[in-house]
Amino acid sequence: MTIAANEVGDRYVLPTGSQDAARLDVIQEVYGPISIRGLEAAGMDGVRRAADIGCGTGTMSRWLAERMGEGSSVDGIDISEDQLAVARMGQPATGSARITYSLASAYEPALPSAQYDIVFVRLVLCHLKEPDRAVAAMAALLKPGGRLVIVDMDMYSFLAMPPSEHYRRWLEGARAHQHNIGVDYSVGKRLHELLSGSGLETTFLAADQPIFNSGPGKHLWENTWRNALPHVVKAGSIAPAEGEELIAGMATYDARPDVWIAVAKMFAAVGRKGG
Ligand SMILES: C[S@@+](CC[C@H](N)C(=O)[O-])C[C@H]1O[C@@H](n2cnc3c(N)ncnc32)[C@H](O)[C@@H]1O
Repeated sequence: MTIAANEVGDRYVLPTGSQDAARLDVIQEVYGPISIRGLEAAGMDGVRRAADIGCGTGTMSRWLAERMGEGSSVDGIDISEDQLAVARMGQPATGSARITYSLASAYEPALPSAQYDIVFVRLVLCHLKEPDRAVAAMAALLKPGGRLVIVDMDMYSFLAMPPSEHYRRWLEGARAHQHNIGVDYSVGKRLHELLSGSGLETTFLAADQPIFNSGPGKHLWENTWRNALPHVVKAGSIAPAEGEELIAGMATYDARPDVWIAVAKMFAAVGRKGG
């Protein structure tokens, strides 16, 4: 089950559950380092209670649980029951914090206010029409001195070398799509502004843009956009035949050994609640 789009005001454009679990594992491989850098900069020692908002299949909930250890707790929430079902199957190592997964929206997390040392959110704001409202809801979960760690992207920083017409045209279509559905695929550039808007002090900002000429990371965005294609077509942002042509062109291009891919830049920001 998924909370209906009209209840949260947004539409998630990617598949969920087992259909997307492998891609989220690659996300972790590629963007795990910048995420962990943000969390360690926020301070993980002594953290007793953490939340993972839009936890997906739980890769970072498990990381948090293992880092925090026994006697601590992690609450993972997501609007997709399919994602949560996969998350519940993944067990953190023995001696980890207890993880509880529940169905809720980032706008109304249904978690206790002012109780969390760390709130973490990765690649969720880019799917929301009102990221500022979601950040305010997350800030409310923090206890005084608690930290919100946001990891999000600038999709348009994606770079294919040598240049690819298929990728260039796809990114043009993506701009039309974000306009059609009212989201911001470069929200990563606004993290400081979003934290300040919710009364948090930005204590850390960094970005990472890994580059691949082989392996799963090289294909991450081709696969992401293949998975998003049905929604992009349904929203009228790109014609079906053109979408198929572009995805096929990307696959052929990525298979070339001379091609290097700089994946979309990922930003990490830490906002601290006063007190
Ligand atoms: C790209 S995935 C990222 C998952 C996870 N944070 C990670 O980095 O592995 C985005 C997740 O956000 C969830 N999501 C989308 N809109 C949401 C909302 N309004 N509230 C909570 N979760 C949401 C989706 O169901 C999906 O699991």
